[in-house]
Amino acid sequence: MSTPTSSVNLHDARITYDRASLAESDLTDDPLTCFHSWFQELTDAGLEEPNAMVLATADASGVVSSRTVLLKEANEHGFVFFTNLNSLKSQQLVSNPRASCTFPWYLMHRQVNIIGDVHLLSRADVEGYFHSRPRASQLGAWASEQSSVIASRAVVEGRFDDLVKQYGLTEADGTIPVPPHWGGWLIAPHSIEFWQGRPSRLHDRLRFTATSAQARTNDRGDWELQRLAP
Ligand SMILES: Cc1cc2nc3c(=O)[nH]c(=O)nc-3n(C[C@H](O)[C@H](O)[C@H](O)COP(=O)(O)O)c2cc1C
Repeated sequence: MSTPTSSVNLHDARITYDRASLAESDLTDDPLTCFHSWFQELTDAGLEEPNAMVLATADASGVVSSRTVLLKEANEHGFVFFTNLNSLKSQQLVSNPRASCTFPWYLMHRQVNIIGDVHLLSRADVEGYFHSRPRASQLGAWASEQSSVIASRAVVEGRFDDLVKQYGLTEADGTIPVPPHWGGWLIAPHSIEFWQGRPSRLHDRLRFTATSAQARTNDRGDWELQRLAP
């Protein structure tokens, strides 16, 4: 394949990754603690939305897709996000309950890559989070048939206006029910890789792999730590 001419010179677009290093001794036995520690460092460094992660899913025949979602909880059970249950991602997760997600923490020349099995959250967990969201976001979840084709922006705006009339925008207007098509997913990780960019492309890659099912549900379970070639 010949290289097309680009108006932007991407061949020379590179920087030196020299913000930090990552040694085995920098990590604890528990990948969740390490995740929280890096998360805090990115927050302190001023990264906007460090909880934004790129989520990859695939259908049963192997067709892949990816998009950004917001991490809403990271605990000993796994990594939680919320979404529309009829969306492309949810359809793929129903037919193939595995996912990968990447936290693109470029501000510190870092990424965290997670691979795991996926479980639908209980309605009780979904209710709790839904009602903690701003009221307009709750109505937005009702207004949008996420991932479906719509004729124009006016379709969702019209629906939203109708919902504001129906439910109101203040707490005094009463509780907004959780849409049946809205829910959350838990990624129970079996692999968590911490990647730190280094000069000359000699990056540090340290990967935790769950060596028992218990490791996925108990932060004192067994994880094997291995260094990967960059
Ligand atoms: C920073 C950012 C955060 C987002 N957070 C979410 C989220 O938490 N849940 C969600 O359903 N979509 C979120 N989106 C929108 C998704 O990227 C995507 O457009 C939507 O979920 C539909 O994806 P799908 O059609 O592949 O299922 C976010 C987008 C961005 C850029």
